[in-house]
Amino acid sequence: MEEFRVKDAIKDIVRANETSAQKVAKKPSAEIARILDDPNLNIQAKSREVYSSTSKIVNDLFESEVTPEKIQEVKSSINSMLNGVINNKITITSLIKVSNYDYYTYTHCVNVAVFSVGLGREIGLSKEELEKLGAGGILHDLGKAKIDVGVVNKPGKLTDEEFAAMKRHPALGYDMLLEQFESDEVILTCVRHHHEKINGGGYPDAIKANAISLYARIVAICDIFDALSTKRSYKPALSTFDALNLMKTKMSAELDPKLLPFFIKMMGKKE
Ligand SMILES: [Fe+2]
Repeated sequence: MEEFRVKDAIKDIVRANETSAQKVAKKPSAEIARILDDPNLNIQAKSREVYSSTSKIVNDLFESEVTPEKIQEVKSSINSMLNGVINNKITITSLIKVSNYDYYTYTHCVNVAVFSVGLGREIGLSKEELEKLGAGGILHDLGKAKIDVGVVNKPGKLTDEEFAAMKRHPALGYDMLLEQFESDEVILTCVRHHHEKINGGGYPDAIKANAISLYARIVAICDIFDALSTKRSYKPALSTFDALNLMKTKMSAELDPKLLPFFIKMMGKKE
């Protein structure tokens, strides 16, 4: 899977020095729709460009002030991506193949959104539910924008104090969205509850089992998988097989036991 991943391409796009005129002219969601309709691109190329455009908007979200317009643009980008999947212009599998192998907060959010929409499709959620779930997945770690970047990006084990600060990000993200007048319960629960555990051992509310929404249980699985299977400066990436195996054997008390087999089935798909 690794050879398909596009570390450098994304970094180049994110750092590209666009003129302000270009920035105004190309909204990422419109850019995604254009890419999907480009007859000269195959599925792999479309997936790579859609992934890069979505990564760019999430990076912008983390690097500057969050506004209702930016949140709307994130939703529009997810909707464009989802339309591409539903109309067979790209596939979840092709998006997974181009997803970033190195961990960055913004690519992690895109990866989690792609996995979440894929898992939601596996269990038969409606398009409307998938749109909300995708937006929840992409915004799930928004609260990290409020935490000291030195702690968020620390290469190595966090001190108890740093870990306590990090654990505030689900509630911080939830509050940020409320401040921006977000009212969608699916999105709000994905942000607030993606670190809750089935056995009640999670945070911030220590709720358990079905008290955690289906959507947050989906994002939790996708979040953990991506954290295990991407590389960080202090840990190598686990292979897909090893990450899934660890989740199945060591984390079964934390993750939804009915959803995990659907996730494993999705990750085993070749096309
Ligand atoms: Fe998180």
